[in-house]
Amino acid sequence: MLALLVGLSSIIGVSSNIYIDVTHSKIVHRIDYKFVGSILDCGMIKHNWGSFDFNSAKMLALAKEFGPSYLRVGGTDADYMVFTRNNNARHKRFILGPSTSGHPNFYIMASDWDKLNHFVQTVGWDLIYDLNIAPRKNGKWDPTNTIDLLKYTAEKGYKVYGLELGNEINISPQFHVSAAQSGQDFLALKRLLPTIHGLHIPKIFGPDVTNLDVVSFTESFLAHGGREAVDVVTFHHYYMGGSHASVLEYRSAHVLDSLKHKVDTAINTCKKYAPGKPVWLAETSVAWSSAPDNLNNQYVASFAWLDKLGISAQRGIKAVLRQTFYGGLISKSLDPNNDYWITCLYKRLVGDGVLSVSFGGDSHLRAYAHCTRVPSSHGYHKGSVTIILMNIGLNTMPVEIKGGHTQHLYMFSPGDSHGLKSESIKLNGHVLKIDSHNKFPNMPPVSHTGTVQVGPAAIGFIVLTDANHSACR
Ligand SMILES: *[C@@H]1O[C@H](CO)[C@@H](O)[C@H](O)[C@H]1NC(C)=O
Repeated sequence: MLALLVGLSSIIGVSSNIYIDVTHSKIVHRIDYKFVGSILDCGMIKHNWGSFDFNSAKMLALAKEFGPSYLRVGGTDADYMVFTRNNNARHKRFILGPSTSGHPNFYIMASDWDKLNHFVQTVGWDLIYDLNIAPRKNGKWDPTNTIDLLKYTAEKGYKVYGLELGNEINISPQFHVSAAQSGQDFLALKRLLPTIHGLHIPKIFGPDVTNLDVVSFTESFLAHGGREAVDVVTFHHYYMGGSHASVLEYRSAHVLDSLKHKVDTAINTCKKYAPGKPVWLAETSVAWSSAPDNLNNQYVASFAWLDKLGISAQRGIKAVLRQTFYGGLISKSLDPNNDYWITCLYKRLVGDGVLSVSFGGDSHLRAYAHCTRVPSSHGYHKGSVTIILMNIGLNTMPVEIKGGHTQHLYMFSPGDSHGLKSESIKLNGHVLKIDSHNKFPNMPPVSHTGTVQVGPAAIGFIVLTDANHSACR
C-alpha cells in the first residue's frame, strides 16, 4: 500500500515533504575566514611557468575576485626543486642524490620567488610553500638549501604565510622517509625558523599525506615531533583517479558520501594525537590526474566540489585548497571554469559559522548551512543564514525552506544544451562570463518566498535574509 502511494505521488509529480530546516540549528564548527584556497603546481616552475603570465591584467583580475585566499605552491615536483640565487640557472638540470635518480632536480630561482611573492602581495593572497624533503644527510633532512631560501626571504622582507616539507611522502616510491623521521624533520624546520635573522616566521603545515585515512602514518608523524612542529595538520584527497571518472560517478551519492568517513578518520586521529590543531585539506579536487573528456571542467564536476566544501565544513575541516588555480579553476587561456564561479559566490555568501541542518524527503537532495558572510559585498545582516543545496537528481523538486521568510535565490544550472557536460554555467538563468574589460558580472539574487522549485541538477545558495537566527546574530 505504501509502495503504491509512493509510486502514485511520483507519477503525479508531488514528492511530498522535501524540506530543509535550519530553525533549531546550532553552530557546529567555525571554518577559516579564507576557507577556500587554491594551488599553483610547482611543476610549472620547471617549465619556466609555461604560459602563466604574472602580469596579465585578466589573470590578476580573476585572482583578486577569488580572494581572500591562500595560495599553496607545491606538488610532486616540490621534492625536486632547489632554490638558487642565480637567476640564469633555469635550464640546468642535475641529480641531487640517489633518491631522485630518474627524476632530475630543477631550480626555483630568486627571480621566481620574487614573482610569486609579488603576485600574492598584489592580489592579497597568503603564500604557502612546499619545501623539498629530499636533501638528506645521515638519514635526516638537510636544511642547507632551505636556509638559503629563508635568508633570501628575510632579506627581501617577504611574509610567507606557511611552509610545508615534502609532498605525499606516504606514497612516494622514491623517498624512504618514515613517518617518525618526517616528524623529526618537521621539528628541525620549526627550530630552524627563529634562527633566521629578520624572518617573518611562517606557520608550518604537514604532513601533507594522501589520503585522509592514513591513520598509522599520521599517528606516528604526530607522535614523533610532528605535533610540536606543525600549526596545521594537512591531508590531500581525491575521490578517484581520472581513469575512473564518469558523469555517473560525479553525481553519485555513494561517491560523495565516501568523503564523510575519511574526514572523520582524519579529524579523530588529530583530536587524539594533536588536540586543538586545525585540520586542512591542503590539496584536493575531484579526480587526480586528468579525467577523460575534460570532465573536471564540466557542470557535473561541481556537485563533487561544492559537496566537498559542504562535508568538510560540517565535519570540522578548517580550510580546503583546490588543485589548481591556473589550468584548473581558470583555464590556460584564462577562462573561468564553472567551479571558479561557484567558489567566488561561495566566498561572498558563506560565513564561518557552520550550522547543523536537517533536511530530507528525497535522497537526491544535499544541503548544508552556514551563517551568512557578514559583512560582504552582498550587504547581508547578521542573523541571515546561507543554505547550500544541490539536486543531484534529474527531476525538479519542490523544497520547503524552514527558518526564514524572504529567500534570496542564487541558482546555478548548465550553461548550454550539453547539460551535465556543459563547460559553462548559468546563474539565475544568465550565463556567467567576464567582459572584455575584465569586469565581473554582478551576480544578483532572485527574491522569493514559499516553496522553492529546485530544478534538475540545480546547484545553489539560498540566503534567508530575515532569519535573524540566534546562532548567527
Ligand atoms: C532579532 O531577534 C532578537 C531577539 O529575539 C530581537 O531582539 C531583534 O529585534 C530581532 N531583530 C530583527 C531585525 O528582527
